[in-house]
Amino acid sequence: MLDRTGARPTTRRETNMTALSPHLRQATPVVAVRGEGVHLYGDDGRRYLDFTAGIGVTSTGHCHPEVVAAAREQVGTLVHGQYTTVMHQPLQRLVGKLGEVLPEGLDSLFFTNSGSEAVEAALRLARQATGRPNILVCHGGFHGRTVAAASMTTSGTRFRSGFSPLMSGVVVTPFPSAFRYGWDEETATRFALQELDYTLQTISSPADTAAVIVEPVLGEGGYVPATRAFLEGLRERADRHGFLLVLDEVQTGVGRTGRFWGHEHFGVTPDILVTAKGLASGFPLAGIAASEALMAKAWPGSQGGTYGANAVACAAACATLDIVRDEKLVENAEAMGKRLRQGLEAVADRTAGIGDVRGLGLMLATEFVTEDGGPDPETAARVQRAAVDQGLLLLLCGAWNQVVRMIPALVIDETAVDQGLQAWAAAVEAGTSGAARR
Ligand SMILES: Cc1ncc(COP(=O)(O)O)c(C=O)c1O
Repeated sequence: MLDRTGARPTTRRETNMTALSPHLRQATPVVAVRGEGVHLYGDDGRRYLDFTAGIGVTSTGHCHPEVVAAAREQVGTLVHGQYTTVMHQPLQRLVGKLGEVLPEGLDSLFFTNSGSEAVEAALRLARQATGRPNILVCHGGFHGRTVAAASMTTSGTRFRSGFSPLMSGVVVTPFPSAFRYGWDEETATRFALQELDYTLQTISSPADTAAVIVEPVLGEGGYVPATRAFLEGLRERADRHGFLLVLDEVQTGVGRTGRFWGHEHFGVTPDILVTAKGLASGFPLAGIAASEALMAKAWPGSQGGTYGANAVACAAACATLDIVRDEKLVENAEAMGKRLRQGLEAVADRTAGIGDVRGLGLMLATEFVTEDGGPDPETAARVQRAAVDQGLLLLLCGAWNQVVRMIPALVIDETAVDQGLQAWAAAVEAGTSGAARR
């Protein structure tokens, strides 16, 4: 951290300054001073290839000129047109533009600042609309850090321990995590759906079940794509039993997986779609979409907030959606994702400690395993650190942090993919060598 003179303090005691919480540790030692496209520039003068994109947020790359121009223009016009007090034009424009990309019928929108808040808005709507208390969540899912969202999160105890009581009414059902179970996808899907039926028969009766919430690709849970049969099975049970299907597209939305929405890979449409992250290229904006008839069932007063649909964030989101369309970023994510995946698979083929490469589009991950096939977070951490030395920024995920993920901006080109792969190969070599283990 820099002090007020711009110098890096040596110890906290010496500077007598406030500091960040000791738990707010950065995954890399980089102090970012500037971002451009797929690159971040550190105060050490180095340029880093950013395969984290602010945890999948800077969809159009760092400081895309059109996003910057839209935000600058809006800052000079209207920063905060509080959206339950007045309507503002960027919000009107955004609602129209989202209509061009949302699934048919999901034509009513409510906006918040963060993914967690949007997930909670979906939860409130599901309970109020159905009059039922329980929400089914899929094991390994991540839905956020606020207490209700953390109560629905099962991707790691670190997100939900020590502040109980959590929200009641959450029931966990399996996700078809084929690699974890050691099965093929078909077997894992059959198991997950059988267990769902058993859960509805033994724990949460349909009459008590408001919704099931699921990510099309588990994010923090380890980048595990759902299967078509699983999502179709959820849809069928939701329709049969009268509960809602909520798709949490916070990480998978806005082109990330090589489709505009992750669920398009599976041909299954939700009742409520949750979006955030890539929507505004780095400005805080999130929301839910549902049919007008469903949205109307929310109780008066249950939707609102001081900062939701901030005018600058909405202007940035409008620019983002234009760029995604005009620069064909969804198609680019698919093509570049294919190239990146091939490279990752080639590295995996020659590395004994890699158990799996998986993901969709530009949401890809490599899972590290010990000799007996168990999770290997130590090697994953070494590889992630070695990648920083190579100028490549990466993040971990998975229950044990045993998975290294790649989520570069959707504007990435072949040259940057290849540079990233070269750095990745060197980092894997360094992180898995005998010397590194000792
Ligand atoms: C799938 C998913 N849902 C919800 C969230 C929570 O979003 P936020 O961190 O904006 O609250 C995240 C964040 O990583 C996420 O990946």
